[in-house]
Amino acid sequence: MTEYQTVTADETVLRDGTIKLHGPEAFEGMRKAGRLAAEILDEIVPLVKPGVTTAAIDDKVRELTLDGGAVPATLGYRGYAHSSCISINHVVCHGIPSEKTLKDGDIVNIDVTPLLDGWHGDTSRMYCIGDVSLKARRLVDVTHECLMIGIDKAKPGARLGDIGAAIQAYAEQNRYGVVREFCGHGVGRLFHDAPEVIHAGRPGTGPELKPGMFFTIEPMINLGKPPVKLLSDGWTAVTRDKSLSAQFEHSIGITEDGCEIFTLSPKGLHKPPYE
Ligand code: MF3
Ligand code: CO
Ligand code: CO
Repeated sequence: MTEYQTVTADETVLRDGTIKLHGPEAFEGMRKAGRLAAEILDEIVPLVKPGVTTAAIDDKVRELTLDGGAVPATLGYRGYAHSSCISINHVVCHGIPSEKTLKDGDIVNIDVTPLLDGWHGDTSRMYCIGDVSLKARRLVDVTHECLMIGIDKAKPGARLGDIGAAIQAYAEQNRYGVVREFCGHGVGRLFHDAPEVIHAGRPGTGPELKPGMFFTIEPMINLGKPPVKLLSDGWTAVTRDKSLSAQFEHSIGITEDGCEIFTLSPKGLHKPPYE
C-alpha cells in the first residue's frame, strides 16, 4: 500500500517509506536548489573538453556548488568522496572522478546534487567530447527524449508506471536497453526517498501521482542489453555487454495540472551540442 504524508517545509522528514507531499515553500526551496544544479551543468561546458581529467571537472563542480552557497550532497554520502559522478561511455552511472582524461569521441554523463538551504537539486546531462559517432549521438538524443517523454506523463491522477512505460516503449522502439538496477527517487529534504521511479513498467500501475510530490526521473539507456555490473570499487556501474550507455536526469514537482521541472538549464543547454 502506498502511504502519502503531507509535510511542511520546516519539519524533519524521515526515510520511512512514505511519499511526501509538499507545499509552496518547499517548491520555492527546490526551485532554488534545482536552478543552482542546472547552472553548474551550464557553467562547466567550456571545461568538458578532450584532455581534461574528470577530477578537474569534479573540482570545478565543488567550487561552483560552494560559490552558490550549497554543499555537494554526494560528498561523504555513504562513503562517496566526490562532488559529482562522471560516467564515460559504457559506464552507466556513479563513475568516480579520477585522473583519467576525456578523449575525442567520448560521451559523458555528469551528475550533480547541490544541497542548498536543505533542499537537494539532483540533475545530470550528457556531454559529447569532440567528434562523436552518429550512433553515440543518436543514443544521447533518444535518451534525452526518454526523459522528456517520461516528464510529459507526470501529472496528478497518472501513475508512476505510466512514466516508466512511456520511457521503456520509446527506448525499445529504438532497440535500446533500459537499465533496471537503478531508478529515479523521491527527492527534497532527503537525497533519496520514496518512491522508486522505475524507468520501465506497465501503464496504470504503481503509486498515483499527487500534487506536491517531488521526485527525479533519470533513465539510463544502453545501446545494447539492459544488464549492468558493479566494478570492485563498489560504485562504478557498467554495461555487462560493454555497450555505450547514456543518462539525463531532472528533479520535478507535481503541480495541480502537470509538473514543474526544477532543474531546467537557464541557458537552454538541454542536450548536446551545447555551442
Ligand atoms: N546523483 C545520483 C542520483 O541521481 C546519486 C549519486 S550518489 C553517489 O541519484 F554517492 F554516487 F554520488
Ligand atoms: Co537522482
Ligand atoms: Co543525480
